[in-house]
Amino acid sequence: MKLADNKATLSFTNGGPSVELPVYSGTVGPDVIDIRKLYAQTGMFTYDPGFLSTAACQSSITYIDGDKGELLYRGYPIEQLATQCDFLDTCHLLLYGELPDAKAKEEFDRRVTMHTMVNEQMQFFLRGFRRDAHPMAVMTGLVGALSAFYHDSTDINNPEHREISAIRLIAKMPTLVAMAYKYSMGQPYIYPKNSESYTGNFMRMMFATPCEEYEPNEVLVRAMDRIFILHADHEQNASTSTVRLCGSSGTNPFAAIAAGVACLWGPAHGGANEAALNMLHDIQRNGGVEKIGEFIKQVKDKNSGVKLMGFGHRVYKNYDPRAKLMQETCREVLGELGLQNDPLFKLAMALEKIALEDEYFVSRKLYPNVDFYSGIVQRAIGIPVSLFTAIFALARTVGWIAQLNEMISDSEYKIGRPRQLYSGSAKRDVQPIGQR
Ligand code: SDX
Repeated sequence: MKLADNKATLSFTNGGPSVELPVYSGTVGPDVIDIRKLYAQTGMFTYDPGFLSTAACQSSITYIDGDKGELLYRGYPIEQLATQCDFLDTCHLLLYGELPDAKAKEEFDRRVTMHTMVNEQMQFFLRGFRRDAHPMAVMTGLVGALSAFYHDSTDINNPEHREISAIRLIAKMPTLVAMAYKYSMGQPYIYPKNSESYTGNFMRMMFATPCEEYEPNEVLVRAMDRIFILHADHEQNASTSTVRLCGSSGTNPFAAIAAGVACLWGPAHGGANEAALNMLHDIQRNGGVEKIGEFIKQVKDKNSGVKLMGFGHRVYKNYDPRAKLMQETCREVLGELGLQNDPLFKLAMALEKIALEDEYFVSRKLYPNVDFYSGIVQRAIGIPVSLFTAIFALARTVGWIAQLNEMISDSEYKIGRPRQLYSGSAKRDVQPIGQR
């Protein structure tokens, strides 16, 4: 970041001394006002619950232009990465800052492949869960449990430990998600097969059984790989901020990523893809396209508590570029499976059209986000609704790790410790129970 040729002056109407604050610029996007000395100079905090106007860090990983609906990973537009690269290329890019050349790709893919198995003991964690446990409950437990197996790489301040933990987490997430799925189905776990691609391996671990040969459908593998790319990172969203804050205490990478998994689960965040599909199912059950008007009326009624899941975004005030790519992927997958007339896809497109013409959504700049179509694609591929957010966590793990490693290797970083505006009781004395 560089000092801008601009400064901010804070003056107070009560005659207090004004304060001059430096302004910094990045490569692109909004400048920042550096308030790090504000408390020392004024005895006051800034107040920004939800962090609508707060840059918590500087980062060179992902850039989002919410007005243009633009998303760049290390400067590359998501549209180019999603169509010209695969997920492991994207992992290499997010982790190391550059797309791999052929040699680097072969080495990186091989390293990840060699870490896809998990310790045999991991299956005993699964046995402790009910078969109908939500996969995100299982994943929060399993990812946290990984730190119990890798005592050789839990020092987050050691670059070698960070590197091997990154590879292990990226490599093992597909295995753990597939194990959570097989456990819920009462089917045997399928071990990774080193001759398969990263995503082909995932599809095989999910859908193969020991009873017959399994050949992944390349169109579906490609679609799943694209879903991973689209979900890989997204600047300082809630779960990434959770991982950064958790990691800032110096805890191990596995624990920090487990915190990200827990945060992503929420329906306002990664859980929205599951909620969006359930919403479409509900509309379908209650009359389908003819009932969209009634549903939209409910959404606009604040007292209903009903939201159009998969719509709206804190940053995008234009169409989420990932939603466009997800819609295209939807068409490809449904076409491949002969489901062009899938009623849920048609319902989703009708709902999107009506919402985008409705003043309530237009005035609030509410557009489809990544979660609006991803559920339809995953359902067509055969992924159960309850596993959607676990797939999101699988893909986002590389983004969480890249952001965590960027923070830890930033000499300026220190443990995150926000303050507050206290509005509780003033100091008072405990009274004997008889006088309370
Ligand atoms: C993800 O941050 C990220 O980058 C996240 C993510 C990532 O890759 O990491 O992109 C992934 O989490 C995508 C978002 C998935 N969530 C949903 O689809 C859930 C539905 N969306 C909303 O909950 C909401 O849009 C949020 C949480 C996504 C954003 O909320 P904000 O920025 O806090 O906006 P807001 O809630 O203040 O909404 C502004 C207005 C409000 O109305 P008014 O009070 O102004 O009258 O828009 C309304 C909201 O009620 N609104 C919606 C709505 N989203 C916002 N009304 C109906 N349906 C919606 N979906």
